[in-house]
Amino acid sequence: MAFLTEEDKKYTNVLDICTHLGDEYGKFSGAIVPPIFQNSLFVSPTECNGVTAHGYGYSRTSNPTVDIAERKIAALEGADGALCFSSGMAAISAAIMYFVKKDCHIILAASSYSNVLSIVRDYLPDKFGVEYTFVGGDNPKEIENAIKENTTLIYLESPSTMVFKIQDLEAVAKIAKEKGIGTIIDNTYATPLHQQPLKYGIDISCHTCSKYLGGHSDIVAGAIAARKEIIQSIQDRERTWFGGCMDPHAAWLLIRGIRTLPMRLKQHGENGMKVAKFLENHPKVKKVFYPGSDTFEQKEMFAKYLSGTNGLLSFEPKGTWQDIRNFVNKLHYFQNGVSWGGFESLVALSGANPVQKEYGQPERLVRIHVGLEDIDTLINDLSQALEVLPD
Ligand SMILES: Cc1ncc(COP(=O)(O)O)c(C=O)c1O
Repeated sequence: MAFLTEEDKKYTNVLDICTHLGDEYGKFSGAIVPPIFQNSLFVSPTECNGVTAHGYGYSRTSNPTVDIAERKIAALEGADGALCFSSGMAAISAAIMYFVKKDCHIILAASSYSNVLSIVRDYLPDKFGVEYTFVGGDNPKEIENAIKENTTLIYLESPSTMVFKIQDLEAVAKIAKEKGIGTIIDNTYATPLHQQPLKYGIDISCHTCSKYLGGHSDIVAGAIAARKEIIQSIQDRERTWFGGCMDPHAAWLLIRGIRTLPMRLKQHGENGMKVAKFLENHPKVKKVFYPGSDTFEQKEMFAKYLSGTNGLLSFEPKGTWQDIRNFVNKLHYFQNGVSWGGFESLVALSGANPVQKEYGQPERLVRIHVGLEDIDTLINDLSQALEVLPD
């Protein structure tokens, strides 16, 4: 049920997919918004092996509200199907487990989300004898050189979400396919609106829907999109057996978030670009990391893979950690918090671990999420707080 229907395939425009794919007024008493199927069980007199005539049995396996969210994501990603999960980490760990074999080897972009690094570095080796190699990820040759006999997975996050490393998806997918190795990307930064990794040959595109897809900082959720046999296998095994299914109410909020995703992203992108320019010209700022900027080191790769920017950026400020904490404490609109992708402006501090440092992350980094507030208000707020930093 997580696959696109023939009716879904008629939606070819992104705005139409976001607003209307999954509307079935006849089925839902004319409700303009599909209902929340807040039930665990579906019964039917024709039940056979737990699956009813209408295709639903138990909400851990599938649920009509969750299905709509999945079909929207599949259509946006250009995938055969999608599966929603209770969190981004539930989605990512199911995707990783699909490719893991006992004593296998995983190649992992070092700039990936910290909890993913922990699964590959601290958990899988202990439990299943898995080996790993960290790579910068932006040089396909480095990835090719890291491949071993037992490599089963190359894991990418592109762009990454601290210093926005972009990996060459097409080149990596080609190398992987030649050797029969699986590929996963965390596509959360781009959203499926700005990057569709499957069309470059990547096997699974993962998201935390807790960021832009949800967009209102009111759900923790995740999703994967892939071709049919992968979705079917993960649906039957990792999601059903490990049980990280999405709650129908979260799915309903996710559907609502997706309806306005194009407009929100556009506004986040405009605001993000203005803040990036402001910071680039500020004497208390050493370096700005913003993929849409002219100063961005991987400008060409950005243009190749992404069709837009958003509100996430980071910068290396002048000063000590204490100076930087004083800056954060002086902000009024940017709340101190580690998430991003909601309507609100946020700030978070990040030190670089040794691996991140080796791959280009400065020792002291301020990450900013530029929300949907008035841009002059936000720039004035940053401007007054930056005064506390030394020259
Ligand atoms: C890039 C990225 N991937 C994955 C995750 C994990 O998602 P979740 O918090 O929904 O489990 C996060 C969370 O912040 C993230 O930033």
